[in-house]
Amino acid sequence: MYAIIKKEQLSEGVYRITVHAPLVAKKARPGQFIILRVTSDGERIPLTVGGYDRNRGTVSVMFQVAGATTRKLAELKEGDSLADFVGPLGRPTEIEGLRRACVIGGGVGCAIAYPIAKALYEQGTDVTVIIGFRDTSRIILEDEFRSASTTLHILTDDGSNGNKGFVTAALGELLTAGEVFDDVIAIGPIMMMKAVAELTRPYNMKTTVSMNPIMIDGTGMCGGCRLTVGGQTKFACVDGPDFDGHLVDFDAAAKRNGMYRDGERADYEHVCKLLENARAQ
Ligand SMILES: Cc1cc2nc3c(=O)[nH]c(=O)nc-3n(C[C@H](O)[C@H](O)[C@H](O)COP(=O)(O)OP(=O)(O)OC[C@H]3O[C@@H](n4cnc5c(N)ncnc54)[C@H](O)[C@@H]3O)c2cc1C
Ligand code: FES
Repeated sequence: MYAIIKKEQLSEGVYRITVHAPLVAKKARPGQFIILRVTSDGERIPLTVGGYDRNRGTVSVMFQVAGATTRKLAELKEGDSLADFVGPLGRPTEIEGLRRACVIGGGVGCAIAYPIAKALYEQGTDVTVIIGFRDTSRIILEDEFRSASTTLHILTDDGSNGNKGFVTAALGELLTAGEVFDDVIAIGPIMMMKAVAELTRPYNMKTTVSMNPIMIDGTGMCGGCRLTVGGQTKFACVDGPDFDGHLVDFDAAAKRNGMYRDGERADYEHVCKLLENARAQ
């Protein structure tokens, strides 16, 4: 069992939990993820490693309540335990040698973008961060990004923080002004990452995206997380989750991610009559 040492609410429906998992903490690197189960009969869900403390043996993950399992996770308190916490899985983000990087996060994608920005900044890279949210109330990790970037742009779709626009508009302005990055690393909704890749393509600027397909085993065995990259089939759990944004077939990825939407909704809305009756007695 993996004890929850600390639980914080970052914004409406978004939480960070710090879990005692010494073996994961020992090896975790930015860009990798873990797969957890809340209970031993529960669903396995992947979450990105948001931070780790090798001395204390703890790993933090940040998550948005998206459906049944993340809702159960959000109900846990400090001192409760998780049945499984497996990792680190996937390949770490390649950050070595980057002199100038632009890290872009959309919504809860910022939870994945932050450890990468931090690692880049700590190794001396000049880091421009562009993060976007629907409105001010959804902004997360502002202080953390401020201390992990050379330049920080925070935008909201509705302009409620005084800086209206999409992350792609901010990136477009920088590129038009002649900014050059060794790598543009984008993490967020599939269509946001596609738009970033289309913006950088004419500049032939390296662009890395972090793909989040449905994952089951996380070891390359089930094929659930397959993607088409450069015309080839890749498994995000072992070949990724980072891929060359100019080669990913984003439309196919979006279609696959929507495959189970009806079942997931039914799971989320399902009310167990047996449990309800038991609670009422
Ligand atoms: C490598 C990777 C890293 C991720 N990191 C984070 C993170 O740091 N923070 C965060 O909030 N979310 C992250 N996600 C997404 C997270 O796994 C899903 O939000 C979660 O699985 C939803 O489960 P649910 O039962 O609560 O919701 P559901 O209702 O089951 O699903 C809601 C949506 O979540 C996605 N999803 C559902 N099941 C899975 C699954 N087994 N694998 C992948 N996606 C799934 C689908 O897009 C689905 O439509 C990551 C996904 C991947 C693949
Ligand atoms: S999650 Fe099964 S192959 Fe990647």
